[in-house]
Amino acid sequence: MGQSKIVSLDRFVEKSLYDKEFGYYSTRNPFGVSGDFITSPLVSILFGEMIAIWTVAFWESQQKPKNFNFIELGPGDGSLCKTLLNTFKKFPEFYNSLNVYLYEKSEHLIKIQKKEIKNDKVLWIRKMDKIKNGTSLFFGNEFFDAIPIKQFEKKNKTFYEKFIRYKKKDHLEFFLKKASKNDLKELKKFNLLKKGGVIEYPKMGIAELNKIISVIKRYQGGILLIDYGYKKSQKISTIQSIKAHKKNSLFKNIGNSDITSLVNFSLLKNLFIKNKLKINKIVSQSFFLQKIGILKRASILASKMTFREKSNIYFRMQRLLSNKQMGALFKVAFAYKGKKKFTLGFEK
Ligand SMILES: C[S@@+](CC[C@H](N)C(=O)[O-])C[C@H]1O[C@@H](n2cnc3c(N)ncnc32)[C@H](O)[C@@H]1O
Repeated sequence: MGQSKIVSLDRFVEKSLYDKEFGYYSTRNPFGVSGDFITSPLVSILFGEMIAIWTVAFWESQQKPKNFNFIELGPGDGSLCKTLLNTFKKFPEFYNSLNVYLYEKSEHLIKIQKKEIKNDKVLWIRKMDKIKNGTSLFFGNEFFDAIPIKQFEKKNKTFYEKFIRYKKKDHLEFFLKKASKNDLKELKKFNLLKKGGVIEYPKMGIAELNKIISVIKRYQGGILLIDYGYKKSQKISTIQSIKAHKKNSLFKNIGNSDITSLVNFSLLKNLFIKNKLKINKIVSQSFFLQKIGILKRASILASKMTFREKSNIYFRMQRLLSNKQMGALFKVAFAYKGKKKFTLGFEK
């Protein structure tokens, strides 16, 4: 990074995470107990199996399209994709219609994914226009929380954007700069100008989502998103830097810590509605996974297990489902354009 420069918060985070030389996601495999964080596919294989079964059910509900694209957004270490493919194979008619695309930005993670996943159906893409004609279902687990956001604040009737100023390499500080007219227009569009306190605006995330929405509008299909986030903004900064499973200062261990922010699900909903997609009610991860039968599946598996294995599987279920752990903070959204209504996992 240059000397005595200012850079917007989202650009700063983008560099810290994705710089080709020193970015966090360009230099390591951060997932798992020995990494910095654990995501649901690594908590339990049942998470991936349930997503696979839900996907097959969606395909069936749309009258079994002959060309069906499954696009995973930010596949991490590839664990989820492996589980999905193993489960998809159990449904031969579905499997014959299937193409899998992995949308990944980190060259380093692509290498890890390619070692893990050896299957002719899988294509790695950096551009959405590589997706061929076919009903297209996008899936992202903790994809949007890893996309940097902008922050704004209002002071004396003027809106400012948060920037970071570096004086010397080790001396960074926040700095407020008058917000651009274009950004203010966007904030207004999403009803964000009325909010006091910290206004979070996922400009880069929206750009990604717009590309995805245009594929869905062209080919039909949908987007299933699971992420930690909120429906009502608390007007505070939700940016967090994590190193070795612990909170870390944003200005420390740059390139060596993961930086995330909570996803504003109301804003996503707004964008889907503006684009005339159907959208299901946003529910918690606990609600969704239980509705699609994760506990039934766990109990079938547990009936053939030793006491120790049983305790392990229920310990993992607790982690995914408990409101004190990932169950409530993680939300699930599904927006789609299709022949038939599909509400599996979202209705009582
Ligand atoms: C927090 S990780 C989640 C990984 C995985 N989905 C899981 O649940 O374990 C975020 C993933 O999204 C990828 N990513 C972030 N921004 C991206 C972008 N704009 N385009 C493609 N991939 C991106 C990261 O490289 C990483 O693979």
